[in-house]
Amino acid sequence: LSKIEIKLSDIPEGKNMTFKWRGKPLFVRHRTEKEITAEESVDLSELRDPQHDKDRVANPTWVIVIGVCTHLGCVPIANAGDYGGYYCPCHGSHYDASGRIRKGPAPLNLEVPYYEFPDEDTVVVG
Ligand code: FES
Repeated sequence: LSKIEIKLSDIPEGKNMTFKWRGKPLFVRHRTEKEITAEESVDLSELRDPQHDKDRVANPTWVIVIGVCTHLGCVPIANAGDYGGYYCPCHGSHYDASGRIRKGPAPLNLEVPYYEFPDEDTVVVG
């Protein structure tokens, strides 16, 4: 149970799917070209927890993050909020489509777990 294998072709472009991994929600997001371009071009000086998109993804198409808000642990909603990534309804934290905190009380970006792509259609997290 420490690892989870996910078939990527089951996740349509523009969608985020939630899995359960080590007792926590795990988000796997299939980004659009538009989202990739937008996140790659964000100015790091605008960020509370400055991290380049390239340092958060191994493949720009796929964002893989722990679905636990870094404020007090609620589960954010995908494709919502002012930055189109994730929105935490508990106290109003807005994350972008790289899982970076952009507005609201959360102090840190959504956590990126360890993962690998053993082949084109598979990601193994853990
Ligand atoms: Fe997400 Fe407070 S737990 S904003």
